[in-house]
Amino acid sequence: MKEIEMENIIRIVDMTLQYPPADEDADPQTAIDGLSLEIKEGSFVAVLGQNGSGKSTLAKTINALLPPTGGDIFVCGMNTKDDELIWEIRRSAGMVFQNPDNQLVSAVVEDDVAFGPENLGVPTEEIRQRIDDAMKKTGIFEQRKKSPHMLSGGQKQRVAIAGVIAMRPRCILFDEPTAMLDPKGRLEVMNIIKALKKEGITVLLITHFMEEAAEADRVIVMRQGKIAADAPPADLFSDTENVRRLGLDLPPAVEIRELLRAGGVDISDDVLDMGSLARVLCAGAEVTDGTERRRVREE
Ligand SMILES: Nc1ncnc2c1ncn2[C@@H]1O[C@H](COP(=O)(O)OP(=O)(O)OP(=O)(O)O)[C@@H](O)[C@H]1O
Ligand SMILES: [Mg+2]
Repeated sequence: MKEIEMENIIRIVDMTLQYPPADEDADPQTAIDGLSLEIKEGSFVAVLGQNGSGKSTLAKTINALLPPTGGDIFVCGMNTKDDELIWEIRRSAGMVFQNPDNQLVSAVVEDDVAFGPENLGVPTEEIRQRIDDAMKKTGIFEQRKKSPHMLSGGQKQRVAIAGVIAMRPRCILFDEPTAMLDPKGRLEVMNIIKALKKEGITVLLITHFMEEAAEADRVIVMRQGKIAADAPPADLFSDTENVRRLGLDLPPAVEIRELLRAGGVDISDDVLDMGSLARVLCAGAEVTDGTERRRVREE
């Protein structure tokens, strides 16, 4: 039994979350409606869905910020309904929000990163080690003496992520962490997320960017508080009709892939990002025509 719990770092059983009604006459708002879900330790899961489909509510229930009104949620085997376990749950499954400004609490970057481990009562000498590690991993070590307010949006978000990493969580829940960032900031944050996954940290990434979801091992699509699809990205994005029915776009590389397919070019469902698309096209050009290959490379 213990092994099963360890493997599924998150286990949600028939969970419902109703927000209280806005006034006495209104009905309660059902944000999550009888949802069951298991997430394996070490996996990278993207969560998609239209506005109001329940993505943020789902993350908040996993983080024990909202107690479910029905069913149960287990994080590393701990039930989020158990008040005594709330801090251990939040330490095990850290959360990064959309707006980095709302997550930064100190006037100096390194103090901000130290805030979480200090609150956990980590010994001072270990805190130094942990925050240095976390700041190096997120590429903000050089900025450690600065005020967070001097930093770019992407840098601020990396400080917020460093603060979570310093608590040594086994799982990190990201709720649209790149929504307020420029393309460079988005790329930096995505690179950190991929590095965390490589280290074995479980990642749950809520996003509206299809190209980010394409990087995950598994994509969950929410609709009206339920799971409307659950598949590896190559499978999900291969059924373009279904993707549209779910109210989603295709990742840009898949849009191009589909246009090329319509034009008779044979490309695998595994091609989901621009890098693989370019490689496939160059390799194809190499086989068919040396002149064409040079032309593609020069561009
Ligand atoms: N604090 C709240 N009180 C009442 N209803 C809420 C509250 N927060 C969210 N809701 C409602 O719950 C439903 C799910 O909201 P949620 O924020 O989880 O969606 P989301 O998928 O994260 O949307 P978005 O993509 O816009 O962030 C929506 O109908 C929303 O209006
Ligand atoms: Mg949301």
